[in-house]
Amino acid sequence: MIVSPSVYSMHFDDFKTEMEALNDSVEWIHFDVMDAHFVPNLTFGPGICQAIRRNTDKFLDVHLMVEDPEHYAEVFAKAGADSIIFHYEVFNDIDKCVELIDKIHAMYLKAGISIKPGTPVKEILPLLDKIDIFLLMSVEPGFGGQSFMPDALPRLEEVNAYKKEKSLDFIIEVDGGVTDRNAHELLSRGAEALVAGSFVFNGDIRANVEKLRKCE
Ligand code: DX5
Ligand code: ZN
Repeated sequence: MIVSPSVYSMHFDDFKTEMEALNDSVEWIHFDVMDAHFVPNLTFGPGICQAIRRNTDKFLDVHLMVEDPEHYAEVFAKAGADSIIFHYEVFNDIDKCVELIDKIHAMYLKAGISIKPGTPVKEILPLLDKIDIFLLMSVEPGFGGQSFMPDALPRLEEVNAYKKEKSLDFIIEVDGGVTDRNAHELLSRGAEALVAGSFVFNGDIRANVEKLRKCE
């Protein structure tokens, strides 16, 4: 499994120490970009992304919760992202999503699509053979530390069934309220990458990552 802690929940006064713990224990690092328009919260710009890049060789998984992902895809590509994940709801249009996916691939990055809890999975099925990562939101995007929405489980099953039926090889990632209480249910339904913010950073990072791994 891939563990992708969300630096949203990092204690930035202990940046170096927490980066070391991540470097010792995880595969990916999840970077939540919020613009105070697409979601009602504001997080990080490219400078923080560059600082993380300077402190890790891990796969930097950039989740854009912004109204203008075309612009920010380029900004975060330059800042050291390995993947750019954007929201289907920005466009609600398959062709426009494909255009941006192509642009992300042209920058030699992995491309991903995310959907909010209210967006029907069937709307994005035509994109699944074009992407590298599908990010299923299991909370309403905007804030860390929310409770997992169990509705995500049948949605995950729907994506996984389609993936198997069409023999696709994108990575299924789940984001929001992930803990050692729901990780097993997620992994057994096809999740391969788990984003976890508050669960990982609340307490001992290495030990919390281990707890997630034991759920496999
Ligand atoms: C929510 C973000 C998440 C969030 C996860 O909008 O996309 O990545 O930080 O945090 P937890 O694990 O605390 O729900
Ligand atoms: Zn996220």
